[in-house]
Amino acid sequence: MDRKPAPLVPDGVQQTYSVRTRSHLHSTPDRESAPSLRPPASPPLPLLLAIAGSLRAASSNVAVVAAARALAPPELEVVVYEGLGDLPHFNPDLDTESPPAAVQDLRRRVGEADALLISSPEYAHGIPGVMKNALDWLVASLEFPGKPVGLVNASAASTHAQAALEEVLRTMSADLVAEACVTLPWTGAKPDLARMIEHPPLSGAIRGVLQALAARAAQARAACGG
Ligand SMILES: Cc1cc2nc3c(=O)[nH]c(=O)nc-3n(C[C@H](O)[C@H](O)[C@H](O)COP(=O)(O)O)c2cc1C
Repeated sequence: MDRKPAPLVPDGVQQTYSVRTRSHLHSTPDRESAPSLRPPASPPLPLLLAIAGSLRAASSNVAVVAAARALAPPELEVVVYEGLGDLPHFNPDLDTESPPAAVQDLRRRVGEADALLISSPEYAHGIPGVMKNALDWLVASLEFPGKPVGLVNASAASTHAQAALEEVLRTMSADLVAEACVTLPWTGAKPDLARMIEHPPLSGAIRGVLQALAARAAQARAACGG
């Protein structure tokens, strides 16, 4: 016999609040309803958009942003951006009133985020093309300036790209959060996701970055009146 799943709200009881997802991106406005049954309204969690500057399947920088999501404190929602490889090559001629859909998506996500976390490899002493391409699309955007940004460097040997990213981001008027710009305390084979979560110095460094960004995001919200 088919069994119907139990309803979230028993029959005959009017649902007076919506089931809240972690993401305010999917939330719906509360309906007017009886105040006695309504749970206290809580503002959406600060949102961190995490971007890895590598398209490699086994990327250590993708592992960093996945670890950031796994280690996020309860007061912060972490969403991983996965559209880096879909962005067209930056071309000012395409940056019109209606830029390519992938660019609109990137800018919308950046606009919705309270802070950004970038973890990028170094290629030939520089920023990988895909990462710089994404930043170039954000240079003239309204969404980026003033955004709190943290930078995680997964490789202590890669000092040039981290310095270049700091310079580029400052030039783009990012709010670089000093306590959230770190090089992971790790040498040798690239750490994978499990290692990042289980190795206390690595997980501690990532947690520190998240806490610094959560604090800056909360500060920015308070400055805007909540
Ligand atoms: C084309 C290429 C150039 C690289 N150049 C550098 C470099 O200049 N300095 C460095 O520290 N590592 C360099 N590396 C190593 C990468 O930064 C390293 O493998 C990193 O883990 C790649 O990031 P991912 O694991 O997120 O893909 C280079 C790797 C490639 C493929």
